[in-house]
Parts: sequence; C-alpha cells; structure tokens
Amino acid sequence: MTGHGKLILVTGGAGYVGSHTIVLLLTENYQVVVVDNLSNSVKGNGNLPESLERVQALTGCNVKYYDCSLEDKEALKRVFSENKIDAVIHFAALKAVGESCLIPLTYYRNNVGGSVNLLEVMKDFGVKKIVFSSSATVYGDPQYLPIKEDHPTGQGCTNPYGKTKFFVEEILKDLWKSDQEWGIILLRYFNPVGAHHSGLIGEDPLGIPNNLMPYIAQVAIGKRECLNVFGSDYETSDGTGVRDYIHIEDLASGHLSALGKLLGVGTTPQCYKGWRAYNLGTGEGHSVLEVISAFEKASQKTIKYKLVERRLGDVPASYADATRAREELEWTAKKNLLDMCSDMWRWQSKNPCGFHQESK
Ligand code: UD1
Repeated sequence: MTGHGKLILVTGGAGYVGSHTIVLLLTENYQVVVVDNLSNSVKGNGNLPESLERVQALTGCNVKYYDCSLEDKEALKRVFSENKIDAVIHFAALKAVGESCLIPLTYYRNNVGGSVNLLEVMKDFGVKKIVFSSSATVYGDPQYLPIKEDHPTGQGCTNPYGKTKFFVEEILKDLWKSDQEWGIILLRYFNPVGAHHSGLIGEDPLGIPNNLMPYIAQVAIGKRECLNVFGSDYETSDGTGVRDYIHIEDLASGHLSALGKLLGVGTTPQCYKGWRAYNLGTGEGHSVLEVISAFEKASQKTIKYKLVERRLGDVPASYADATRAREELEWTAKKNLLDMCSDMWRWQSKNPCGFHQESK
C-alpha cells in the first residue's frame, strides 16, 4: 500500500497500457484521475470508457474520468484546478506507425503539441513530476544488442510516430535543464503484449491489428484467416524478426516503480529530481516463429501462417538491457512468453470483440 492516497493524473488512461497501470495504482492505494478523449477506446454503458468500468469492477475502487483531449488546454486547466494532483503518468498519444506516415501533422499536433500543453499546465499548477510513456522505437535500428539506455536515440526513427516519442523526450530534457525542480522519468517500452490475468481487460485494436500478438490472437479465434510473417531471411536463429516481448502487467508495474522514485514512496525515501530513461523489457528476444509456437501451446489452436516479404521499416532484432531498471527502480519483468500468450488468449477468448458487445 505504497500510494498513501496520492492523486495521480493518468492521461490516456482508458487505453491498453493505461488501464493496466491504473489497476495497480488503485491496488497500491493511489487515487486516480483520468483524462482520455476516447480516440482509441470504447464508451461503456455509463459515463466511463468500458475499459475503466472494468477496472472499477476489478478493483472495487472509483476512477474519476474527464473526456478531454490534451489539445484542449482550457479543459486541462479545469482538471488541474478541480483536483490536487501529485504527479502525472502521460500515456495519451496516437500510436499507429503506418497512419503516422499518412497524417504526420495530426501526430505532431496531438503527441507533441498535446504534451507541450500538458507540461505548460503542470508548470502553472506547480506539478513537476512526470512519468512519460516512451518507446524503444527511439533507438531506431540498434547499433548493438542488448540495447542500453545510453544508446543513441532519434537517429534511425523512420516514421513520424517514432519521432514524436523522441521529440517529447528531448522537450522534457530541455524542460529539466531550465528548471531542476522537475522529476522526469521516461519509460522506453519494448513490445508490450498479453492482458490482465483476470481476462477482464486487454488490448482492443481498432480494425486490422498492426502488431504481431493481437494478429495471432485474432487468427486463433477465427477472425482472421492467416498470419503474414514479415521476413524469413533475417540474420536471426530462424530468419524471422526478434523482439523483446513484455507482459503488460510487468510493464504496468514498471510505472509504479518509476512513480515511487518520483514521489519518494516505497523503497525510495527521497523524491527523485532529474531526467532519466529506463528500458522496460525482459532482456530476452523471441522470434516470430517462437511466438506462434508459444501461442499455439497456450491456446491449443493451430495458427495458420505464411512467410512473406519483410515489412518496410522493421529492424531484424531488438531487445533490452534492463539492468538500469533493476538497479535503480528495483524492477524486473517476471512473466515469460507462455504467460503472455496464455493471458492474451484468456482475454481474446472471453472477449472475441474486445470491449465491444458485438462484432465491429
Ligand atoms: C511496432 C512498431 C513500433 C511500435 C511498436 C508498438 C513498426 C515498424 N514498428 O514494433 O514503432 O513502437 O510496434 O508495440 O510498426 N510481424 C509479423 N506479422 C504481423 C505483425 C508483425 O510477422 O502481422 C512481425 C514483425 O515483422 C516483427 C514482430 O512481428 O518482427 C513484431 O512486430 P510488431 O508487433 O508490429 O512490433 P514492432 O515491429 O517491434
């Protein structure tokens, strides 16, 4: 019970990573206010997004929710004036790589402009603690493996989505240089997958999934015919792409550790001030074929697939050196690939249409 009732603003809290993080926050006795514009989530029957209705059912705690975009600065100010916020976890962002190449300005306005709005309002209200949801995509094509946090960033970002993550990291760095009262933690996610072990919340992609695990799950449930495996001639153990898949509940717990460091709760007695990045990954890479085979084991279904051309912009292999998070946040990932697939399958089979009542 480390939270001591502290109030955390979670932007994008109705989404995949946000909702799982909120479950843990509430369990650890934090209070939560969510700002989300429902751009990638489903409205529930009451006032809340469906994901948050389920978070409340899971935890027995209340979540205060504002239907608000970060582009609306006046609305953001109202949120801060109505709530005494102690710290912010900032997830809200658009995240489809392909779409970001088609409508880059929308991505820059929302992800970068929205973050600047949020930071300005935080500054005005004297809230100077933030955990930022970043991505291993900032490393581009890795120069070495496993990737450490001091690996160069920004150089190989090939799409606007990835660049927005890099730009916001840099904006946060400049902010800290201008005022050292800020405590800023960047969490660079590798490949979050799986779902809450209850099967009540999980990832609910709009339309055809871009990412591997949701696609496999939809093949397993019979919603998609066949998985295209993008590339089988990489210099990896079996020729397919290798990634560091991390269970969503492990990823969520990384946010609690980061927040603990900013607030000086839990095992860290002092409030951290500074700008610091942490990789959130298991440190282990798995190929696409390994993921397929683990999912088959977890679901007892055969996953039909075919080997096709490489996908533009994909790197052969990417996995984390997660030492810094272990040493400084006392955090490590605990769940393995089979856990990720089993929980993903539980969520998918209990909720064939995700958070929707019926087929989309
Ligand atoms: C992708 C994004 C990355 C983003 C991350 C979010 C691209 C190029 N990169 O990373 O910017 O931060 O998602 O989680 O989109 N694969 C298939 N068939 C599929 C889908 C994927 O074979 O239908 C393969 C890919 O080639 C890759 C692996 O599965 O080797 C993982 O792909 P994916 O889940 O899309 O994640 P990333 O490409 O790592």
